[in-house]
Amino acid sequence: MPEVVTTVAELRSRLAEARETALREGSSDAPDARVVLVPTMGALHDGHVRLVGRARDLGGIVVVSIFVNPLQFGPTEDLDRYPRTLDTDIASLEGLADVVFAPSAAEMYPDGAPNTRVSAGEVASLYEGAIRPGHFDGMLTVVAKLFNIVRPDVAVFGQKDAQQVHLVGRMVKDLNLPVTIAVVDTVRESDGLALSSRNRYLDDGQRQAAVVLSRALAAAAAAAQEGADAVLAAAREQLDTEPAVKLDYLVVVDPDTFQSVDAEHHGQAVVLVAAHLGTTRLIDNERISIP
Ligand code: PAF
Repeated sequence: MPEVVTTVAELRSRLAEARETALREGSSDAPDARVVLVPTMGALHDGHVRLVGRARDLGGIVVVSIFVNPLQFGPTEDLDRYPRTLDTDIASLEGLADVVFAPSAAEMYPDGAPNTRVSAGEVASLYEGAIRPGHFDGMLTVVAKLFNIVRPDVAVFGQKDAQQVHLVGRMVKDLNLPVTIAVVDTVRESDGLALSSRNRYLDDGQRQAAVVLSRALAAAAAAAQEGADAVLAAAREQLDTEPAVKLDYLVVVDPDTFQSVDAEHHGQAVVLVAAHLGTTRLIDNERISIP
């Protein structure tokens, strides 16, 4: 089982010790002393396990943080309803993680809500940020704190949260943070539904309907040859076949800026989709190339 630590002091001393041991035992193989961080909010599923597996493959000391960050929940979002499954999370990390860092809110924010925060900028008010004001500032603030606490050489994130990955990458670049970001592809059910902690809230009918999101993205990718407008039309056509799916946004963005592209765009792009199924909101995305 991974070792579970709950305080910053404990974590730092544990990592200092692990780094020292790795350097001593493998002096010609210093990369083993690298620390690889997988930040999570727990409720781990196979998608998270894949992220930790990637961390393990990178070598070194694998730290998984499990912290439901109050700062990234809006006033209308139910922080208390967020699933907390620490014991099963820890069990699922057996053989994959060396250390689980599971601090309390008081440990992370001893003075209450922090005075100093990271601002995610303009992109933070788009797409996910439009319906979750403050979410990305809160997310980047805790990620910056985790980077300072753990001092990882590499941090692993999932492509499933494409806007998050983009903003973390921008923060690292903008603030010269000494960490490399590794991105892992979205893990899907056999029918294409992207794994998400929120899938557990879908009833059977919604679960069946939800597959239209990945179908829409596959249709979008197939239409890439014909340009951005065709991409959107192909995805919309699929989404329209499922009345249970209430579209929130569907957009093609430039991966460098995360601004929506125009009809003349050529090159790499990301199709983002978000939709409601009942009270559950799902997101998904697909990287495409428009010739
Ligand atoms: O993706 C998540 O689970 C969270 O946004 C993260 C990166 C762990 C920060 O709280």
